[in-house]
Amino acid sequence: MIFTSRFRYLAAATLLFALVSPWVSCKKDDSGNECNLANANQTYNTNIKRIINKHCISCHSGSGPGGGDYTTYEGMVAELSNGKFREVVVIDKSMPQGGNMTQAERDSVNCWILSNFPK
Ligand code: HEC
Repeated sequence: MIFTSRFRYLAAATLLFALVSPWVSCKKDDSGNECNLANANQTYNTNIKRIINKHCISCHSGSGPGGGDYTTYEGMVAELSNGKFREVVVIDKSMPQGGNMTQAERDSVNCWILSNFPK
């Protein structure tokens, strides 16, 4: 009897886990598809330019190893539009290469791009 009830408990727990875990892992997905800042009003001129200057233009300024010229808004529009920018800064965080960008800075960039990167 004890064996049976334990088995039932295990079976129920396993079933519950199987049902719930995809949902939990989905909730944990950190792809940042939503802006998580209270103040979502990021613009290039008010605060994004400062972040880009600090973290990106040492390599992305026309002649640098990174390609592209991120010293101007216009120089980033192509990568902003095709999703590459957000992918490397927010999703896989491979940029800035070797840099120490804070999560708060990544969040600002994320919100800015999600609201169609206003100038
Ligand atoms: C230390 C140099 C360095 C810094 C700093 C740097 N990058 Fe890069 N970046 C590179 C290099 C080199 C490449 C091209 C090779 C590669 O994809 O790894 C690159 C590629 C890219 C690409 C194209 C990726 C692709 O797959 O086509 C984007 C977009 C990009 N960087 C954005 C940024 C942004 C935004 C920042 C600042 C937050 C930044 N990078 C900071 C060196 C750098």
